[in-house]
Order: sequence, then C-alpha cells, then structure tokens
Amino acid sequence: MPIIAVINQKGGAGKSTIAVHLARWLSKKRKTVVVVDADAQQSSSKWLARIEHSIPCHILQDSDALLEDLPKLIESYPWIVVDGPAALSEMTRAIVLSADLALIPCQPTGVDLESASDTVRLIQQAQRIRKGEPKALIFVNRAVKGTKLKDEALEVLRMLPSVKVLDTVIHQRQAIADCFGQNSTVFDLPGTSTGIARRELVELFEQAVRGLDG
Ligand SMILES: Nc1ncnc2c1ncn2[C@@H]1O[C@H](COP(=O)(O)OP(=O)(O)OP(=O)(O)O)[C@@H](O)[C@H]1O
Ligand SMILES: [Mg+2]
Repeated sequence: MPIIAVINQKGGAGKSTIAVHLARWLSKKRKTVVVVDADAQQSSSKWLARIEHSIPCHILQDSDALLEDLPKLIESYPWIVVDGPAALSEMTRAIVLSADLALIPCQPTGVDLESASDTVRLIQQAQRIRKGEPKALIFVNRAVKGTKLKDEALEVLRMLPSVKVLDTVIHQRQAIADCFGQNSTVFDLPGTSTGIARRELVELFEQAVRGLDG
C-alpha cells in the first residue's frame, strides 16, 4: 500500500500536474487509488472533480487531518497519491514523515534548484528518524527543448544528498499545460503531441514505481 507524495516547497514545479497524472496512470492500470489533496489551493481536487474518469479525492485542511485520515485511507485504498503544498509547512513535514516515496518535480532554473535543497533537507531529517524512509526521487520537469539548462540542472541535483535523480526529464509541453483547462489528462486526450507527453510521463511513473522497491 504505497503512499507516494509529490512534494516541492517551490510553487509551480508541477506537483499537482504530476499527482493527477500519476493517479490517472494508476487508475488506467486498474489500481485502486485516491488522491490526497494537501494543498489549500485545492488544484488537484478541482481538476479531478471535472475529469471524466472519476478518481476519488480526499481534501485535507491541515497536517492534523493528514495524520488522522491516512490510516483510514490506507484501509480502503492500496495506492495513495499525495499532492503537496508549496511550502515547508507542518503539512509538508507530516507528509514526509508518512510517505513511502517522495517524488519531487523540479524546474531547471537557479531559484528552483536552490529551493529544492530545502525540501531535500526535510527528507534527510525524516530518513534519519525512519531508517531511510521515505525513498526520494527528484526529476526535472518543464525543461525547455534545445536549452542547456536541463543538463546543468541534472548536475546540480546529482550533488544533493538523500535523493536519487531520475534520468527521465519531463519537458515543457503545451499538451500537458492544456490538460487542466480541458478537464482531462494526457492519458485521455488524442493527438501526436499528447502521445509524446504521455510516453515521457509513463517512463517517469514506471521509474517511480520501481523506486518503491529500492
Ligand atoms: N511538463 C509541463 N509542461 C507544461 N506545463 C506544465 C508542465 N508541468 C506543469 N505545467 C504547468 O505549470 C503550472 C504549474 O503546475 P502545477 O500547478 O502542477 O504546479 P504545482 O507545483 O502544483 O504548483 P503549486 O505549488 O502552486 O501547487 C500549471 O499551469 C501547469 O499546467
Ligand atoms: Mg499544486
């Protein structure tokens, strides 16, 4: 019963986008999944409420609710995807202390890379208490094709302790950006550009699920 938490204290890294797509990918694979929306903006719950293939969503008000509700959710859902807030808050701490896997999207820019190290520090603290848990995977999201930023970002990320850097890079793609407005996901929309985005995300999610095992 894995709890996969998509976290990064930095806004706009792609947490909600990745959380919703991961949940939809799991549901397409016939997994019973719930999304736990731990962000006050409630982006993922609004998104999920409007998509055709309904995926249950549980909204949390505060970190206390997370610690109260997770044990109950675990009883009903074999897969839990948490959409984290853009803050190093009590909520993020509670998430990191509860998750099996932290999946960290990071934009390939200086400010984003720098703030990723704060999220990683939180993970390091939790790993010390929990004997290596949560496992943590970081990856570059929203990389612009044809720029060198991606390679530079990967180099910086590889220097961070406690997290594994994924080779899969998710590029900045209009097909992904359009999904929220279209009440859908790249797994449900047709088109060549959607297909390319879909392949990238599938590769990412397969790596993430493998990451649960070690
Ligand atoms: N790979 C991508 N390609 C194109 N657009 C993307 C991609 N990933 C995310 N976006 C867009 O970037 C914006 C921020 O994404 P998202 O809301 O998922 O980030 P977030 O980390 O959840 O933000 P917040 O911290 O505010 O909750 C959205 O407009 C989303 O559509
Ligand atoms: Mg969000």
